[in-house]
Amino acid sequence: MARKRPREHLKVLLRKSQIRRKVRHLARQIEHDFHGEPLHLVCILKGACIFLADLLRELELPVSVDFIAVSSYGKGSLPSGEVRITKDLDHSIEGLNVIIVEDILDTGLTLSYLYRVLQQRKPRTLRIAALLDKPERRLKEVKADYIGFEIPNAFVVGYGLDFGEKYRNLKDICVLDSVEP
Ligand code: IMP
Repeated sequence: MARKRPREHLKVLLRKSQIRRKVRHLARQIEHDFHGEPLHLVCILKGACIFLADLLRELELPVSVDFIAVSSYGKGSLPSGEVRITKDLDHSIEGLNVIIVEDILDTGLTLSYLYRVLQQRKPRTLRIAALLDKPERRLKEVKADYIGFEIPNAFVVGYGLDFGEKYRNLKDICVLDSVEP
């Protein structure tokens, strides 16, 4: 007899109102640090797209955006650390104030790789904004300049984060558990 698939169970971790307040707060921190200078936001696809859209609209600075996509291998229990760019930026970042916008900082493998690659392209400044941080899972040290929330070691979905492309459209951020039927 075919085994039934485990049911997925969602539990709210961060409500949309908390997220909205935090994104506003991060925008004020960034404005304070850049004193009206133009900013270039680099969004890591796809998970950070909603964070980017909200942060962008909060920022009262001249701001431009670009997108980059990466894939990583060996993720799960034994990450290999191998990251590959699958869609590169459309424009040069040389001389720009760049902030990498990421949904979640987990092992740190993606951001440590991207930081190194983008630093070689000679931006004026290069910073990292991550909405969520799971410090317990870190394998590579990454210095994020703007962090929204530190969260426990759990798999989360919503607000752009997915599980097999599902749940990106949730307004809250939820912990996803699999429940045996
Ligand atoms: P890192 O390279 O391990 O830091 O992984 C960062 C990427 O892993 C994020 O951009 C997400 O795409 C994915 N990721 C890590 N943790 C979660 C999670 O809890 N939910 C959804 N995606 C996650």
